[in-house]
Amino acid sequence: MRIASLTDFLLMRIERGAGGTPLNRQIYQAIREAILSQLLPAGWQLPSSRDLARELGISRNTATYAYEQLIAEGYLETRTGAGTFIADTTPDRIPELGSNQPPLTDPSGESELSAQGAQLIQQAGVSDLQWGAFMPGVPDVTLFPHKIWSRLQNKHWRRSRPELLTYGDAGGYLPLRAAVADYLRMARSVNCNAAQVIITTGIHQSLDIVVKLLGEHGDSAWVEDPCYWGTRSVLNSLGIKPVAIPVDAEGMRMRQADLLQPPRFICASPSHQYPLGMVMSLSRRRMLLEYAASRKVWIIEDDYDSEFRYGSRPLASLQGMDRHERVLYMGTFSKTMFPGLRIGFLVVPEALAGAFATGVSELYRGSQVFMQAIMADFMSEGHFASHIRRMRLLYAERLQLLQAAIAHHFDERITLTGGEAGLHLTLGLPAQCDDLAISRAARAAGIVARPLSRYYMSADSAHNGLLLGYACVPNEQIGPAFDRLANIIKAHWRC
Ligand SMILES: Cc1ncc(COP(=O)(O)O)c(C=O)c1O
Repeated sequence: MRIASLTDFLLMRIERGAGGTPLNRQIYQAIREAILSQLLPAGWQLPSSRDLARELGISRNTATYAYEQLIAEGYLETRTGAGTFIADTTPDRIPELGSNQPPLTDPSGESELSAQGAQLIQQAGVSDLQWGAFMPGVPDVTLFPHKIWSRLQNKHWRRSRPELLTYGDAGGYLPLRAAVADYLRMARSVNCNAAQVIITTGIHQSLDIVVKLLGEHGDSAWVEDPCYWGTRSVLNSLGIKPVAIPVDAEGMRMRQADLLQPPRFICASPSHQYPLGMVMSLSRRRMLLEYAASRKVWIIEDDYDSEFRYGSRPLASLQGMDRHERVLYMGTFSKTMFPGLRIGFLVVPEALAGAFATGVSELYRGSQVFMQAIMADFMSEGHFASHIRRMRLLYAERLQLLQAAIAHHFDERITLTGGEAGLHLTLGLPAQCDDLAISRAARAAGIVARPLSRYYMSADSAHNGLLLGYACVPNEQIGPAFDRLANIIKAHWRC
């Protein structure tokens, strides 16, 4: 059906009255839609803007504005002395499809995803809630010294420094790279200089760039089983096959069959295994390093929260023990500062420093330079160290409160791991206790208790348990929140 009178057509479409879409916009949209749905054919002549305005009872300006916008976007054309016409926007011909083609779009969207995309979405581990009892891995962001941060930020805004507002230097803002190198040498015994430090948006991006620059599609990577879900997601999405390596009290425990098939990468969290919390023993560390050197394997060390160790000094990094430049070290400010900052760092062997700096720039154009400048000051003025000290004391207190709450409800038959460091505890549950069901029931009651079994690669190897983050729960809420969770666990315990 074609439109006989543009005025009648528009009278049915436009709505007058305060508060809605402006009239000129409504006219523009109605004509545009009519052209796209072929109600107005190419070559059709429109009334002059003066006639249209009079017939619709609107101002001439309103009609002119709508026409001008449509002319600017190519829907209408003016012919000198003749008037305004619908432009010919017929697309170039494309070859016909055969008759039994599948529909182009799937309403659910699922069949549109690539195999890797579908796997990523189906196995997604990310939580829909990022705050509150007992969200693991999230620091108490309410205690972040925002006044200091805002003073440093204002200092940078007061001066006009184009280099902070444009794309960053390859590898990141140099003073931050230098501050991170100093910090890592001193606090984590990492062997590095500023040029080896590459600033990223966090561990996810660090892993992504390592795999993109050093891996080939189809390579394999050993991952701890259980491990951080993000590690598997990034590897899978880049076509790298994760191979599950079980962990025991000393960390990754390779079997003979594993050792006979060297992977391209070994992903490990040696200072604080995620999520179980053990520290990789010295002999396993040495064995991994020797194996990596002799088989030319890359070790990717995830050192996500080693700053928070209670009772004993933080342990040195694996990178610091490496004599053959086989370790890529990843760290983050997500736990020591706040996750929304999205700044992390990657330390690469000296020989790869230039390639990685260029790679990050080429793929992501760096990350937020302005925030990097504030972060550099925050570190060099000593605020970073004192914030960590303060939070460590607080988290140690919260850990004790959670341990006491657990002891109040459960006897020693319940196993607790990860109580020496980090931001969460792992509470082991007996095999007949369905941690997914408990987690769902807890979520319905407003509590996050992430199921341990989801962190394993397969159901066969999985153990049941709950990850309980205490860092972002105010002291007085830990006991009451755990009381509620304990009732849910007990209700499932009998099953
Ligand atoms: C083991 C582990 N690695 C990496 C990350 C993510 O780090 P980022 O925020 O720097 O991407 C997390 C976050 O919880 C984690 O637990």
